[in-house]
Amino acid sequence: MRILITGAGGLLGRALVRRWQDRHVLLPLGRADLDVCDVAACHAAVTGFRPDAVVHCAAATAVDRCETQREEAFRINARGSAAIAAACHRAAVRLVAISTDYVFSGALGRPCDEWDRPDPLSVYGISKLAGEQAVREHCPDHCIVRTAWLYGSGGQGFVQAMLKFGAAEGPPLRVVDDQRGDPTSATALADGLGRVLMAGMVGTVHLSCAGGGTTRYDLAREILALRGLARSIEPCSSSACPRHAPRPADSRLDNMVMRLHAMPALPHWREALADFLQEHPDG
Ligand SMILES: NC(=O)c1ccc[n+]([C@@H]2O[C@H](COP(=O)([O-])OP(=O)(O)OC[C@H]3O[C@@H](n4cnc5c(N)ncnc54)[C@H](OP(=O)(O)O)[C@@H]3O)[C@@H](O)[C@H]2O)c1
Repeated sequence: MRILITGAGGLLGRALVRRWQDRHVLLPLGRADLDVCDVAACHAAVTGFRPDAVVHCAAATAVDRCETQREEAFRINARGSAAIAAACHRAAVRLVAISTDYVFSGALGRPCDEWDRPDPLSVYGISKLAGEQAVREHCPDHCIVRTAWLYGSGGQGFVQAMLKFGAAEGPPLRVVDDQRGDPTSATALADGLGRVLMAGMVGTVHLSCAGGGTTRYDLAREILALRGLARSIEPCSSSACPRHAPRPADSRLDNMVMRLHAMPALPHWREALADFLQEHPDG
């Protein structure tokens, strides 16, 4: 397939390029190559390359920053998604747009499936939901893939932070134990997205690592244990570690649509994490 990737310099974009470059003809466009907020540039990129599909990874993903930079969040996550969706529709190209578990508030007390009503808590989540709505409105031939708690090589997220702090001396690390989600390897997600693309799936699809999810605290313990780091760690509540943006208490994703289509599940999060840390011991 010929696949154009937006936000190709980001965590997921880089994983897609690594996993797909031998199988597909790719046009990976980083922010400097294509600003997704530029309507004319989106149109020119899509009509110029004539892909079979666009995978839209570009986003404003700094959850706390979005709280204070509200306009920027909506410009990129909502208007940028509208621009790429309109360009795909005009060129009759399938759009696979990546979205997030943070469109849910996490109040259900069970994993959220594709038919649960989104009710985001943060500007990031609200702007990503607006992006989903723009994709549905402007490009009927779409697949919106919601994923969660991504990590991968070269990232600067939770896994890398735990490796760094876990290796340092100091008092016990305090990690929140009242946020549950599905830690998801960008490599495993790239492979799953490849299957979603090849199967021509449409509509809204949840795609996250299997295993029923975990808390940030248990994820941190697993990371330290896998790397043999002895620093002690203790649970705390989100209210004890306030952040700009509220986080969902339980945003685990039920990958129901994948099951209904008899598509393979992503690996268990513990297995994917162990594979990642074996390949990238320093993150
Ligand atoms: N990371 C997670 O935990 C997570 C969880 C669930 C869903 N997701 C979703 O997964 C997708 C990929 O996320 P990621 O983790 O790969 O995030 P990322 O590493 O922040 O990558 C996003 C990329 O988009 C680029 N970008 C920002 N504004 C742009 C614009 N106007 N035009 C073109 N590119 C622009 C960024 O460039 P700069 O670096 O220059 O800003 C960055 O390279 C996003 O849709 C995100 O919402 C992520």
